[in-house]
Amino acid sequence: MRLFKLPFKNKKNHARLESTIQLDNIPKHIAIIMDGNGRWAQKQGLPRVAGHREGMDNVKRIVKAANHFKVEVLTLYAFSTENWKRPTQEVEYIMKLPIDFLQHYLPELIEENVRIQTIGEVNNLPKKTKSAIMRAIDETSNNTGLILNIAINYGSRFEMVRAIQDICRDVTDGKYDIDDITETALAEHLYTSHIKDPDLLIRTSGELRLSNFLLWQTAYTELWFTDTLWPDFSFEEFEKAINDFQNRKRRYGGI
Ligand code: IPE
Ligand code: IPE
Ligand code: MG
Repeated sequence: MRLFKLPFKNKKNHARLESTIQLDNIPKHIAIIMDGNGRWAQKQGLPRVAGHREGMDNVKRIVKAANHFKVEVLTLYAFSTENWKRPTQEVEYIMKLPIDFLQHYLPELIEENVRIQTIGEVNNLPKKTKSAIMRAIDETSNNTGLILNIAINYGSRFEMVRAIQDICRDVTDGKYDIDDITETALAEHLYTSHIKDPDLLIRTSGELRLSNFLLWQTAYTELWFTDTLWPDFSFEEFEKAINDFQNRKRRYGGI
């Protein structure tokens, strides 16, 4: 078991975790439902959008943490297909965040060898949001470190419907036989075709549901919930989630 040192703030807690985190059993793919921005702002007497801004800053912190632990893929749920229901002003604010985030942090992400990818209907995003994201994908495409996979305008049910439509088109065109429709074939038609299923899914803010996130891909994912609101979710808590993951026994239906 390989151990390593971290820049710990709380020495006592960290000393305990430091001795228990196994570097050879880090979840390869971590997915996070970054929830609670609105409530975080309300608690401070601020407008909801202030929570989204704070949440954006926390993305940087957790990306660094994931990179630190050599996680391979970090999928962050940033905006769901259902989030369009929110007031226009809030949606407009959220849509500007990727532009701001990339303007501020892209050089640092490049320096950290992070590769940006997305899942979701990026084509239907506002033009400026889409072009900032496309630029970031392009400029980081040769990086070989952490894949920062942003789920934006993402909905799992839509993803599955879209996959089935694609498959049916191929069947109609005679490229595919009905018997070729296997679990692997369906998975190959999802946005996530090129990445492994998440090993660990974290949801902040105390909600115990998936909210249309990676329904197919989380069949055997370990789930981890915390009451902490996303802007307050820290390096230490991320580490705790990994530590708990390492104490789980994954059986996949076996014994
Ligand atoms: C998560 O925080 C961010 C998005 C869904 C875009 P929320 O905005 O859902 O925060 P709460 O759940 O209302 O506190
Ligand atoms: C899930 O959070 C979506 C994101 C974090 C982007 P929501 O706040 O939209 O989920 P519900 O509505 O509470 O289920
Ligand atoms: Mg929410």
